Amino acid sequence: MSFAMQEMHTDIGLVNTIVARSSLSFIDGEKGILEYVGFGIDDLARHSTFEETTYLLWNRRLPSRSELSDFTALISSNYDLSETMWDLIVSLPRDANPMHALRTLVSALALEDPAADDPSEEANTRKSLAMLAKMPALIAGFDRHRKGLDLVRPDSDASIAQNFLYMLNGEKPTERMTRAMDICLVLHADHGFNASTFASLVTISTLSDMYSAVTTAIGTLKGPLHGGANQGVMYMLQEIESIDSVESYVLNKFAKKERIMGFGHRVYKAYDPRATYLKTFAEGIAEDTGNMALFEKSKKIEEIMDREVGAKGIYPNVDFYSATTYFSLGIDLDLFTPLFAMSRVSGWTAHCLEYLQDNRLIRPRCDYIGPHEQEYVSISQR
Ligand code: CMC
Repeated sequence: MSFAMQEMHTDIGLVNTIVARSSLSFIDGEKGILEYVGFGIDDLARHSTFEETTYLLWNRRLPSRSELSDFTALISSNYDLSETMWDLIVSLPRDANPMHALRTLVSALALEDPAADDPSEEANTRKSLAMLAKMPALIAGFDRHRKGLDLVRPDSDASIAQNFLYMLNGEKPTERMTRAMDICLVLHADHGFNASTFASLVTISTLSDMYSAVTTAIGTLKGPLHGGANQGVMYMLQEIESIDSVESYVLNKFAKKERIMGFGHRVYKAYDPRATYLKTFAEGIAEDTGNMALFEKSKKIEEIMDREVGAKGIYPNVDFYSATTYFSLGIDLDLFTPLFAMSRVSGWTAHCLEYLQDNRLIRPRCDYIGPHEQEYVSISQR
């Protein structure tokens, strides 16, 4: 059947539309299953690292020991920024939203890459690796700049998770902190055609470039219905004075038809498998860092949400317990979404590389509902 003959259908929000094939992540929203290239998210969270998971997404297989060691070395050799980029970080307004800063800085990486527009797979992989490796320095660098602290240069002997915490805090993180950070990076690395991944695909499908695709994705991730929700969760937890006021807070939100951040998902109508893992992890780290009151409040919100809307398939999503985890790690609230981007860049680029292998311009239609055949009246007569 020719394209013109195919029947058009309206699907507001693309709820029921499959736009491409992918072999990267599988989601069963009814059963609460997430796999990256067939590997269960729970196994990856327990046994893998962010570097290995990224290798998996980019190559669609797990690396051998030597492949992983070469890949990790290649990433860490790309951690550092040019002096121009460090100077750019300190030229940004200190009160800027870190997501605006990150979007601007990632976009600026293209300016100093003479091969920014080279469309070859080799060049696209190199650019993907550069963005993955440099994003921690961009985020940590901006955070230190806005706090008036000296910028910390990357430690090329450290993993991505360890290096990020080191550049952020100016001191080596503990093993437990590094592991917590690494697990969060693994859990957020990919998630099918979520809004930001789809946005990156729209951009790359025009045969634009990888920097533009990732810049688009960062702007999309920022919204409170997507990556911005983890920050929203933390604001909510801070707004709720004590565990005794949780119930009235949640019911009041319902009465005002407002949403509870960190709950609900377009695809999962069962418990988000990433949240299952993070819940246990968040509890451990909250206990270690004296943040149990926060965790108890979260549990109480979950209990009330389950009672009120559990039957509708609204459960905690990945953002709900990642908020407590990041807070317990001492990370500022407005860095939660940049951290999501630091991880998801792995999935964005994996999907772009995959899509380019059989590219087709993504160009949907709209259902025009405006007027027709209006008479143009000159401006002097209106
Ligand atoms: N709190 C209260 N009610 C909710 C919530 C929520 N968090 N989420 C969905 N609902 C209700 C919604 O009011 C609607 O009820 P009704 O049918 O009575 O009108 C019903 O559930 C379906 O909602 P929807 O907006 O049609 O569903 P959607 O698939 O378009 O929305 C969502 C998915 C994630 C935007 C939504 O659940 C939401 O706004 N959640 C809060 C924000 C959030 O946590 N986002 C992070 C998503 S996971 C990480 C990521 O991918 O970024």
